[in-house]
Amino acid sequence: MKRALVVYFSATGVTKRIANMLAISLGVKSFEIVPHEIYTNADLDWTNDNSRSSIEMKDKSSRPKIESRVRDIEKYDVIFIGFPIWWYREPSIIDTFVESHNLENKLIVPFATSGGSGIGEAPKNIQVLAPKSKVERGKIFESGVTAEELRKWAEKYLKK
Ligand SMILES: Cc1cc2nc3c(=O)[nH]c(=O)nc-3n(C[C@H](O)[C@H](O)[C@H](O)COP(=O)(O)O)c2cc1C
Repeated sequence: MKRALVVYFSATGVTKRIANMLAISLGVKSFEIVPHEIYTNADLDWTNDNSRSSIEMKDKSSRPKIESRVRDIEKYDVIFIGFPIWWYREPSIIDTFVESHNLENKLIVPFATSGGSGIGEAPKNIQVLAPKSKVERGKIFESGVTAEELRKWAEKYLKK
């Protein structure tokens, strides 16, 4: 069995709940990507062109600082990486995480929650930032997903 870690970023708690369910259902650790500067409600206002998230997401080179890194990333073979869809892709802070860890030879499995959009270009974007890893297509989960559904979905990546 491969060794897995569940990493996630969640601004309003939806992805966090699912990430923790996934980690518990697999019996593995989870790691929360905590922004150095927490996102306020005003920061998350996508109807405002000048909100922090709008500004960050318009700039593909934006890399919001993260509070801490996974110190023992070398221990893991499979990294599940969860996030909310922001502007049809992964939040820039996911890019910060990916770029600041050595993910060489790891299997990266993205998962996301959204207001209805698909996972879009997020897996492709992550693959570009971590060229020496293998990034799966990933999946969007509804907030009502069960632990059993998550486990079934995830286990196939642990056998590969
Ligand atoms: C800045 C911002 C941009 C968003 N963009 C999208 C989007 O493009 N498509 C979509 O379906 N939902 C979008 N959403 C909704 C979130 O993806 C959704 O509410 C998600 O479940 C939130 O997860 P969280 O609670 O883990 O932060 C956006 C939310 C925010 C705050």
